[in-house]
Amino acid sequence: MNELTADQIHEEVKERYGRLADEFKVDVASSCCSPNADERGCCDVDEDALFSNLYSADTSWLPEDVTGLSLGCGDPITLADLEPGQTVLDLGSGAGIDCFMAARQVGETGHVIGVDMTDSMLEKANRNKEKVGLANVEFRKGQIEAIPVDNDSVDVILSNCVINLSPDKTAVFQEAYRVLKPGGRLAVSDMVTLGKFTPEERADMAAWTGCITGAEDVADYVGFMKAAGFTDISVRDKNNPDVELADSLAHAGEAKVLSARVTAVKAQG
Ligand SMILES: C[S@@+](CC[C@H](N)C(=O)[O-])C[C@H]1O[C@@H](n2cnc3c(N)ncnc32)[C@H](O)[C@@H]1O
Repeated sequence: MNELTADQIHEEVKERYGRLADEFKVDVASSCCSPNADERGCCDVDEDALFSNLYSADTSWLPEDVTGLSLGCGDPITLADLEPGQTVLDLGSGAGIDCFMAARQVGETGHVIGVDMTDSMLEKANRNKEKVGLANVEFRKGQIEAIPVDNDSVDVILSNCVINLSPDKTAVFQEAYRVLKPGGRLAVSDMVTLGKFTPEERADMAAWTGCITGAEDVADYVGFMKAAGFTDISVRDKNNPDVELADSLAHAGEAKVLSARVTAVKAQG
């Protein structure tokens, strides 16, 4: 079996999320895992437990063009505990849901940047920005492995079910570290596993682009973060948040997928 290259994975991911954005209709529920009932490709996962009822905060003020294209697996907004005036970056912003919620919380003196590599998603996000009428949000085209944002310029990085899709998580965390200010924080929802997927499972592109088989074992995920320089790392299962997983050793056996709440800090200089 030939391993897919990073470029091939990016193209497959763009194809899936571009199509989701293009084909989106307000009355059809979609999730990262199953864009519609005919297209699964997500192994035996409990989609409701992973991808439903994500937000604690009120989302009723957002148009259905935003909430209907919410493709995350958690609630990075609650994790982030944002304050007025902060600069926030959302990695893989999709149609914009976390950016718009963040923009309300940081207010007019704050600023939110959403980065996404998929043209149709960026178009949706910009149209949604007009609908919600928030001037303190901007969307930039780019890859999260080479973030189009200045060094040491961001207070909080959000991301919702995106880092698992990247073929190069080492680069993602290095870039996240680079753009955060000293003392800046990561507040991420993402898929991780206990146990590793086999190379055959990882070659299943429908399951990778559905946010499943690109997920890494928690121990490896934490290793990428530590290597980038992050401290105060926490990884908790959103459905069992009392247990800290960040100190876990690599797990043996079949990969068990979970939606994780991930936080970390870039230490003060
Ligand atoms: C599962 S969706 C999540 C979207 C959004 N965070 C949400 O919660 O609705 C993944 C998004 O990340 C983007 N994406 C995936 N991999 C990316 C990468 N390597 N660089 C930039 N964007 C990426 C896709 O284009 C898509 O819009």
